[in-house]
Amino acid sequence: MCEDVPLSAIAGVAGTPLHVYSRSVLRSRVRALDAAFASYPHDLHYAIKANATLAVVREMRAEGAHADANSGGEIDVALRAGFTPDQIVFTGVGKTHDELVRAVTLGMKAINAESPGEMERIDAIARAHSTTARVAVRVNPDVDAGSHPHISTGLRSNKFGMSPAQAHAMVTSMMAREHLRVVGLHVHVGSQITSAEPLRRGAAAIADLAGALAAEGVHLEHLDVGGGLGIPYEPGQTVISADEYAAAVLPVVKPTGLRLILEPGRWITAQAGALLTRVVDLKTQADGRWFVIVDAGMNDLLRPALYNAWHEIEAVEPRDGEPMACDVVGPVCETSDTLGRNRHLPPVEVGDLLVVRDTGAYGSIMASNYNRRPIAAEALVDGADWRVVRRRQTIDDMLQWDE
Ligand SMILES: Cc1ncc(COP(=O)(O)O)c(C=O)c1O
Repeated sequence: MCEDVPLSAIAGVAGTPLHVYSRSVLRSRVRALDAAFASYPHDLHYAIKANATLAVVREMRAEGAHADANSGGEIDVALRAGFTPDQIVFTGVGKTHDELVRAVTLGMKAINAESPGEMERIDAIARAHSTTARVAVRVNPDVDAGSHPHISTGLRSNKFGMSPAQAHAMVTSMMAREHLRVVGLHVHVGSQITSAEPLRRGAAAIADLAGALAAEGVHLEHLDVGGGLGIPYEPGQTVISADEYAAAVLPVVKPTGLRLILEPGRWITAQAGALLTRVVDLKTQADGRWFVIVDAGMNDLLRPALYNAWHEIEAVEPRDGEPMACDVVGPVCETSDTLGRNRHLPPVEVGDLLVVRDTGAYGSIMASNYNRRPIAAEALVDGADWRVVRRRQTIDDMLQWDE
């Protein structure tokens, strides 16, 4: 079931592969994170990169969250979902000239600047448009997030942000610029972080810098501690709770008196989503285990191939009998197209429906047309109701840009 609707009923109408989201889980996650930080002035800026489906982003807005956009495209998603520019922070390494012009002229709550060169470009654009750009400086605190290397962003060797010393020097040298207003400091040390210490250390790095700047008479408006809070994908995996996260971050932010910004993505949407897929073939492997071949592939859910990520996989209507030792694999012409290795499923037959859990973050948004496979549909469940919120791509949709 998703809420009060059988998954088999949704798949029967909307087909597979299909991403399904629970509206009540989406909303309750925003509320829970908000409640954990209730004792201190803060804003949740939902990280659109985790799931940019408009219906999902609109749910975030309806719950009172603001937005974190990582590209011009995500700014458009945020605007179409109804956010105003002063509710959007704009992050990202490698913002193009056109993206910066757009952000400066729209008047974002903050552009999170990643380098001195980017600060200079923002300043020049703001001057050319006779406006003032609000910027926050992204600090790279050299903190190991302890997550997969591909999603760790806070090490000195990673491409993100500036060292605290460089950020300090840059803020003091640019404070007097007429068209720049440095309003905050930003940090994001990685994603799927399962312990408090990296998150605390990231926050402490910008809190310390804010303190040093205040002592020199440089007064900011906010500290943006990014996202990163992890979820338990594997059975028995331990993670910290939203309350433990707040207990780690708030004591280091409170002494600054600055407003707190959070950019959660995964923690909000991951567990609100699942991927439905049907078994299309079965065959035995040399070691006696099975290949369960399904109609969802790495183009529908890239995380296992990209990060060796684990997602629980279950039969929607489990049959009785001996469990099958198997690898659950997709139809894409790559050996890495494996959704789950070394699993035990109840006996399955061709046509059975499987559910791949916790795919609501970095799932549909990473979809591609690899192997010329159309992008899957997405459905949102609300109690006993559900609707398709993103229709399945057709072959014509897929080929429309080709001459
Ligand atoms: C700058 C920034 N903020 C927020 C996020 C969201 O992170 P998460 O989904 O782990 O909460 C990311 C993701 O990598 C990010 O790069």
